[in-house]
Amino acid sequence: MARIALVTGGIGGIGSEICTRLATDGATVIANHIPQETTQAEAWKAERVAAGLNVDIAVGDVSSFDDCTRMIAEITAKHGPIDILVNCAGITKDGTFKKMAPAQWNAVIGVNLNSVFNVTRQVWEGMLDRGFGRIVNISSVNGQRGQFGQTNYSAAKAGMHGFTMALAQEGAAKGVTVNTLSPGYVDTPMTLAMDEKVRNSIISGIPMRRMAQPAEIASAVAFLVSDANGYVTGSNLQVNGGLFMH
Ligand code: CAA
Repeated sequence: MARIALVTGGIGGIGSEICTRLATDGATVIANHIPQETTQAEAWKAERVAAGLNVDIAVGDVSSFDDCTRMIAEITAKHGPIDILVNCAGITKDGTFKKMAPAQWNAVIGVNLNSVFNVTRQVWEGMLDRGFGRIVNISSVNGQRGQFGQTNYSAAKAGMHGFTMALAQEGAAKGVTVNTLSPGYVDTPMTLAMDEKVRNSIISGIPMRRMAQPAEIASAVAFLVSDANGYVTGSNLQVNGGLFMH
């Protein structure tokens, strides 16, 4: 039976590639997107359905618990219970700490960290009851090593792995694995939005001397969520071209 997978931020730079990969591997994949991206999401879905992939879209603001409750209920009614959850929704609002406004802090914590609670809480008991589940939290190298100008983002991304380690213990005896995947710099609109000089200086410090392609992140997610991978839990898989080794 095909697994049902939900990818938050599913039409974004990394999320989109994760959806394509999991659908190619045989899952039914639902890509979550925000209301402001409805037009792009519909085009995104049409393109993949035309290519023969089993994908759907689900609108929802992952920083809102109530909206996640509604969204997951609708997905479950349409497709059945979620077996695989990839928490991939994320934003940046970079700035040095002396200039960081509460709104910049709260937006990044809300979308990048509170979302992990808001979405996972909705699917967790079902996974325990059915004795199977795969959860992957897409964090960042900058949650492991910090980054100048990213106190909000680094705090959220480090928090995700604390969540992973705690929840992995609660799922371990019940067939539910919970892992973190920490990408380095990936070739997406998020990294393209950085100042070119800053970006080039970061790339020159990556041992592989290049950013990751989104498909290289998706292939690591495919490993973590596979049925065959039943014994890796609570881990933090680094896919960062050697930028940080831990
Ligand atoms: N370490 C130490 N000092 C630094 C520094 C660094 N990495 N970068 C800049 N500085 C210094 C500057 O030399 C400057 O010094 P003076 O005041 O003495 O002249 C001071 O800090 C101010 O720096 P900026 O001019 O850069 O400050 P700014 O406010 O214009 O810019 C910033 C701040 C926008 C945050 C910029 O520093 C920046 O873009 N940093 C990179 C942030 C980053 O890596 N974002 C990743 C986005 S992609 C992503 O997040 C995905 C992922 O998971 C990897």
